[in-house]
Amino acid sequence: MSETVQEKASFLVVANRLPVDRVTSEDGTESWRSSPGGLVTALEPVMQSRGGAWIGWPGAPDERVEPFHHDGYDIIPVPLSSQDVERFYEGFSNATLWPLFHDCIAEPVFHREWWDAFREVNQRFARVAAERAEQGATVWIQDYQLHLVPQMLREMRPDLRIGFFLHIPFPPPELFTRMPWRKELIEGVLGADLIGFQFPGCVSNFLRLARRLPDVEGARGRVHMPDGRMVVVKAFPISIDAVGMRNLANSPQVLAEAQKLRQELGDPSTILFGVDRLDYSKGLRNRVRAIGELFESRDLDPEQVVFLQLATPSRERVKEYRMLRNDIDLLVGRINSQSTSLARSPIAYRYTSVPRETLAAMYQIADLMIVTPLRDGMNLVAKEYVACRSRNDSALVLSEFAGAALELRQAYMVNPYDIDGMKASILQALHESPRVKARKMRAMRKQVFDHDINVWADSFLTELESN
Ligand code: ADP
Ligand code: F6P
Repeated sequence: MSETVQEKASFLVVANRLPVDRVTSEDGTESWRSSPGGLVTALEPVMQSRGGAWIGWPGAPDERVEPFHHDGYDIIPVPLSSQDVERFYEGFSNATLWPLFHDCIAEPVFHREWWDAFREVNQRFARVAAERAEQGATVWIQDYQLHLVPQMLREMRPDLRIGFFLHIPFPPPELFTRMPWRKELIEGVLGADLIGFQFPGCVSNFLRLARRLPDVEGARGRVHMPDGRMVVVKAFPISIDAVGMRNLANSPQVLAEAQKLRQELGDPSTILFGVDRLDYSKGLRNRVRAIGELFESRDLDPEQVVFLQLATPSRERVKEYRMLRNDIDLLVGRINSQSTSLARSPIAYRYTSVPRETLAAMYQIADLMIVTPLRDGMNLVAKEYVACRSRNDSALVLSEFAGAALELRQAYMVNPYDIDGMKASILQALHESPRVKARKMRAMRKQVFDHDINVWADSFLTELESN
């Protein structure tokens, strides 16, 4: 494969973020680090095996970066000014669409100037994709930040095959119709030939809305457009590179790191583990409360049990995220301050991102994985944990409101709003017989390995390229 950047590509991924973010430290040194979130985890291996170009933002305002070749594919940066970051990214994407699409668990904020910026930035992404795509190329647009790009790109380049995949849930019409620009958003995404959602409920929510447009008919996963085009709408549950994850988790380096980590945590008999972007959709407040109460009541013995929680910094300038950070700091501080042991705190909480090797080591030492989002498109953390567990002596507590719950049916399911129910499920999972635990873990592992990221990408792209 060529190491130089190609003028045009036959396969392009367009996402708000590049797979790597440029970071400038205080002394001015620049480096690249892996971008946060499930989108990058899922699409990186797809790009590494297919090649092509990834169009996206380098992760900092006013960043001008030349295209470069990385890991077998081209990186085409799209700059965002500070005002774009404020209005398009922090504003319309993450304070309007994100809460609206996550069942309004936080109140969506509607500002006309944010909408104008959203349209303008979507145009910019569409223009770059139009310039970089070969005649007849396949362009795969990702996620809610680029909802308008499919139609914009179709107007510029009707020769392209255009796919769109939404990584987050798509809400019911009863919530979506609050959106002042609802018609534009639905029409914008209908510029694609194929629209993929995480689970079937999102497909039916979307079809109910599409049918409300004039002269549009939609049923059984197909939308017939007034211009004669047919758009396919279907569920494609996303996944992970399961073999890659398992191999990483069982490498000598990771196994050694796992042993060291266990020592650092005071060699407890049981480790509970959670890892999320610090996002209110992840249900951290209730999770920490439930576990705190279990320590307080001594159902969990702080001399024997540690709860390790990692939170990746995310969208730190958006108000809801700042409030969440303070709340978790306070909650964890309060629980730890009530512990009688001076040697060790019941909750080991870190607000940081870690290398993939360290994360794999943490999955290796976790006896119980706790994944409790209030709403989540999929949740790849749950699948990563399952893929890493070659031994069958562990368990997964999983929110019924994560897309992953439709696939990992043998997990201990919880309603994350029900703190007592969550406490009961945690205890049940911890005290389950080894035989039942092993059966559940084997079944979940089979599901993840039979439906990995290659199955996901192949099924989406085969459908896109064949109709
Ligand atoms: P989301 O896309 O909403 O962030 P997912 O669970 O689908 O949620 O994906 C999160 C991805 O980010 C996973 O691949 C997970 O391993 C990774 N991740 C989350 N937190 C951290 C962290 N603190 N350090 C490193 N990777 C993390
Ligand atoms: O999967 C949801 C998602 O919003 C992705 O689109 C995004 O890349 C990831 O989470 C992380 O969010 P952000 O890009 O805002 O840091």
